[in-house]
Amino acid sequence: MLKKLIFLVIFTLTLIASNCSSKNKKTDMYNYINDQSINEKMLSNGKEVYKNVCASCHMYGTAGAATMIDFKFWNQSANKGMDIILKNVVEGYKGKLGVMPPKGNCLSCSDEDIKASIIYIFKEVLDNKTK
Ligand code: HEC
Repeated sequence: MLKKLIFLVIFTLTLIASNCSSKNKKTDMYNYINDQSINEKMLSNGKEVYKNVCASCHMYGTAGAATMIDFKFWNQSANKGMDIILKNVVEGYKGKLGVMPPKGNCLSCSDEDIKASIIYIFKEVLDNKTK
């Protein structure tokens, strides 16, 4: 009886665990931005943050940053999915080409602002790609 119970508990836990991990499956950023839940307000906020903060490096590729037409860079980055990318921008990131300070040095930016600016960047890159 006890054995059966233990088996049942383990079986249930395994089911729950496998269900969770499939939910956490990361989505490529280009698919992510096609998600309906990204609205105009978020995009316009993202554009503001990009213009005020991120563009200082990502517009012309200053300090080793990728420009908005460096598709090779962004394609590789896109594969990491939003969670990892957001963490890297918020906490700062050292790549092969250079160092990005935490939040691109925008200490007054909230995590939501940073998320919006990341979405804006990938949307721009995708637009540039299809031009
Ligand atoms: C001081 C210059 C600088 C600023 C400002 C800056 N970045 Fe970066 N960014 C970099 C550098 C350098 C890298 C890393 C390049 C490499 O891989 O070597 C990078 C990488 C990235 C990546 C790729 C991260 C990854 O894990 O693949 C993203 C996304 C990004 N930046 C977004 C942003 C956003 C959004 C902002 C504005 C909030 C911003 N950056 C501001 C310099 C900057």
